[in-house]
Amino acid sequence: MQHEVHKVPADAKARAHIDNDTYLTMYQESINNPDAFWKEHGQRISWFSPYTKVQNTSFAPGDVSIKWFEDGTLNACYNCVDRHLTERADKTAIIWEGDDPSVSEEISYQQLHHEVSRFANGLKKLGVEKGDRVAIYMPMVPEAAYAMLACARIGAVHTVIFGGFSPNAIADRVNDCGVKVVITADEGRRGGKTTPLKANVDEALKNDRCPSVNHVVVCRVTHADVAFEAPRDVWLDQLVKDVASECQPEVMNAEDPLFILYTSGSTGKPKGVLHTTGGYMVWASMTHEYVFDYHEDDVYWCAADVGWITGHSYIVYGPLANGATTLMFEGLPTYPGVGRIGEIIDKHSVNILYTAPTAIRALMSKGTAAAETSTRKSLRTLGSVGEPINPEAWEWYYKTIGDSRCPIVDTWWQTETGGIMITPLPGATDLKPGSATRPFFGIQPALVDAEGNELSGAVEGNLVINESWPGQSRTLWGDHERFEQTYFSAYKNRYFTGDGARRDEDDYFWITGRVDDVLNVSGHRLGTAEIESVLVEHKAISEAAVVGYPHDIKGQGIYVYVIAMSGTEVNDALTKEVRDWVRSELSPIATPDFIHWAPDLPKTRSGKIMRRILRKIAANEFENLGDTSTLADPSVVDSLIDNRLNK
Ligand code: PRX
Repeated sequence: MQHEVHKVPADAKARAHIDNDTYLTMYQESINNPDAFWKEHGQRISWFSPYTKVQNTSFAPGDVSIKWFEDGTLNACYNCVDRHLTERADKTAIIWEGDDPSVSEEISYQQLHHEVSRFANGLKKLGVEKGDRVAIYMPMVPEAAYAMLACARIGAVHTVIFGGFSPNAIADRVNDCGVKVVITADEGRRGGKTTPLKANVDEALKNDRCPSVNHVVVCRVTHADVAFEAPRDVWLDQLVKDVASECQPEVMNAEDPLFILYTSGSTGKPKGVLHTTGGYMVWASMTHEYVFDYHEDDVYWCAADVGWITGHSYIVYGPLANGATTLMFEGLPTYPGVGRIGEIIDKHSVNILYTAPTAIRALMSKGTAAAETSTRKSLRTLGSVGEPINPEAWEWYYKTIGDSRCPIVDTWWQTETGGIMITPLPGATDLKPGSATRPFFGIQPALVDAEGNELSGAVEGNLVINESWPGQSRTLWGDHERFEQTYFSAYKNRYFTGDGARRDEDDYFWITGRVDDVLNVSGHRLGTAEIESVLVEHKAISEAAVVGYPHDIKGQGIYVYVIAMSGTEVNDALTKEVRDWVRSELSPIATPDFIHWAPDLPKTRSGKIMRRILRKIAANEFENLGDTSTLADPSVVDSLIDNRLNK
């Protein structure tokens, strides 16, 4: 289906920091002379002592090393808070909108400084020092942002664990990086329901399962009665009651770690993606300003969760580094009704909205109801992130939420990239619905074939990035070898993204989705291997294979093939039990959408599961199964298809 090209609106161009000519000039400079370009743009953040070296990076096999601004010193929290106090002390830094529509709060930069400094002193009191790891398992309340910034202030490395993860997932992450203190809340609140965060942490730490943890800091959110084990557990309000409200920000080297964020890969346990301080801050703040065409008085809302990279870069670090007003939303876009997003936009006069296609599709399924309770006249720019946006959802977002006035920036990036990589700029880029369009400054995307040959012209291939950029992840926590193996071994001297993409005749990029065994379910990244390992721990299951399949709202759904242990009676109760098992052992976001009890799985003679075939069957595509000649037992496929048809 051909969709129209949406030209840059005249008013967007007139207002923008970057129009098309500026984009083209700056992009060329960033590629032709990266050292000079980044030497200049690195200065957008505040340094305690300036850098003299800009880039020192190598993607060479066996010698991957990424350093930016390596001799400069700074503090990320200082950049997000202190440096605004002269000009913006009374400006609202965070607008917090509660799950309950009648509850909201505005926190000025001055207050933010006060809260963060006290939180930082509280952490120091618990013995947290520069370089220590601190886990943050919090709902979307301002204290989650205070916690992140407090860690950054004292040089502790935070690892935010999404509030939807189960106790096992918490324990794995805490143990992988040796967390000293866990910060959590009594309960979380979302869509009128509560999540037992403190109880989940208790379960994760039970029986000395996480020996590195000395303390659990508990923030009161719902004031529910929760188990409390002093002296391990400490209430946040008690901890900060009599600490000083001044806390000197630690002097950090540009390459000192800022945070670790776990994300799913195609194999094994989640990977601890490490971001360092200088390059990340430059990247987060610069992309935030240009991609959303952010201006000083804008109210900016990224509707992600701080548990994901989008929340790190575009709720906390990017906007606060720019002195912006960032809106933090505790709830769900559909609660209490489908009009909630628009109502929040009107309530706080939001100018920029950044959300995910899965939320857009959920609202779209209700026709125009999402737009009927609001005017949204303050809106100027819309953003999309996390998964490919289908043109129908794009057009709906453009017309229904944006009233056909607001450019949409479809931003492609990853946990590993730190910030936005391929994206339109509102005042510069003509839009094609479904395309992430063109690279940001300094980014050299390329398409390669399976052998690593770079492809030219309008073509489809595997998406790689040929040169480093400041926001790039530096390593995986404690496993540099896996870092090299995962991202730099497939194609020599290039960063492999794991995504496929197409380039059209205008050099626009269209991301087609993951080409590895990573699923993208409602914008959440999940490894098939992770889900499979939980499944085979269930007593009724002897073997499991997980694939993605097209899903109208979630983008991808989780399709599970399971083989029952012999003698097990397979019935609806067991199917439900398996579904609940994955929810509780891993996370509700990993809940299988479809469970297929299979008699056997298609394997090659060497025993490798042929996932290509499983994906086709899950998608109901029984024709064109491709080459099945290497199957050990071709009849397995027929019985799986029969099975699928009879569901
Ligand atoms: O497949 C791509 C998809 O999300 C993956 C990265 O997931 P994660 O690390 O969780 O970060 C999500 C938020 C940045 C990518 O490999 N993805 C992200 N943005 C887009 C996208 N796919 C298509 N279009 C996008 N705009």
